Amino acid sequence: MTWYLLGAGNIGTLVASYLARAGQPVRRVGRGPAPLQRNLLWPDGRHQALTLAGDDGGLIQRLVITTKAQDTADALRPLLPRLANGALLLRLQNGLGSLDALPLPEGLQQVEGLTTSGAWRDGAQVQVVAENDTLLGLAQGDPEPPADIAALLPHWPGARWCTDIRRQQWLKLSVNAVINPITALNDCPNGALCDDPARQQQARALADEADALFHRLDPDWPGDTYGRALAVARATAANMSSMRADVRAGQRTEIAYINGWLLRQADQLGMSLPAHRLMVAALPA
Ligand SMILES: NC(=O)c1ccc[n+]([C@@H]2O[C@H](COP(=O)([O-])OP(=O)(O)OC[C@H]3O[C@@H](n4cnc5c(N)ncnc54)[C@H](OP(=O)(O)O)[C@@H]3O)[C@@H](O)[C@H]2O)c1
Repeated sequence: MTWYLLGAGNIGTLVASYLARAGQPVRRVGRGPAPLQRNLLWPDGRHQALTLAGDDGGLIQRLVITTKAQDTADALRPLLPRLANGALLLRLQNGLGSLDALPLPEGLQQVEGLTTSGAWRDGAQVQVVAENDTLLGLAQGDPEPPADIAALLPHWPGARWCTDIRRQQWLKLSVNAVINPITALNDCPNGALCDDPARQQQARALADEADALFHRLDPDWPGDTYGRALAVARATAANMSSMRADVRAGQRTEIAYINGWLLRQADQLGMSLPAHRLMVAALPA
């Protein structure tokens, strides 16, 4: 059974290479019928030439979503009539809420993923920077993955099934909501968050507001977003956040699905998050 790939970019091409290893046919969707050639290069010199078949307009039973969050609703809307009953969606993106505005049919299996792997593209060449942890899970916390995901996991380095994916997404989102906008606005590497009093103050305000919200959403929220954000900033000190990279490239950012997602939750609870609101207003969405 074919997997369709919406978003044959950096992460999408990496996922397509795992699907190919697993012997699962994959074709991209949403960019016409022409096939796409990609060459993946790993840090140890391994490489893989990959031909992604183009869209055939067929019924979609399995779909990987690796568009940027802000492109997702427009990309997926025209595909909704093609989704089979009970289709499996695997969304692997930073940020939350990219499918919220869509009238998704009932009965879909929505697997959520988050990854700390990294890849970037130069034309047809996809450089894999690192294959780190990837967590996949269903929001309702099912202990076992759907069969199609179970068949894929052994071929996906660092991937594992996760029964508390929502908690893991919230933990990652809270850290991203601190590091990404500050590094993007100040055009600085992640580590610059740790050694500048003004940036630390901004980070503290964002982290405290995120904790206040998550405590309302989940009484067991562990808090200390500030400590976790600083630890990640230190551990990735030389790295460029994806939001900073997007701003530098003159592109829209995923701010509406990171800090913007927090604002939408806060609005529903009658809370105000002024530090996050400032960031959402300041960055291109
Ligand atoms: N890259 C990383 O290292 C990394 C790491 C962790 C998480 N992530 C997350 O993974 C997600 C994807 O990031 P990325 O870096 O892979 O982005 P990317 O390289 O920009 O890939 C996104 C792809 O979506 C495609 N796309 C956009 N609109 C489309 C449409 N209407 N129909 C079909 N395809 C469409 C784009 O196609 P065109 O090229 O044709 O425009 C592009 O190839 C983001 O949420 C990001 O935060 C990325």
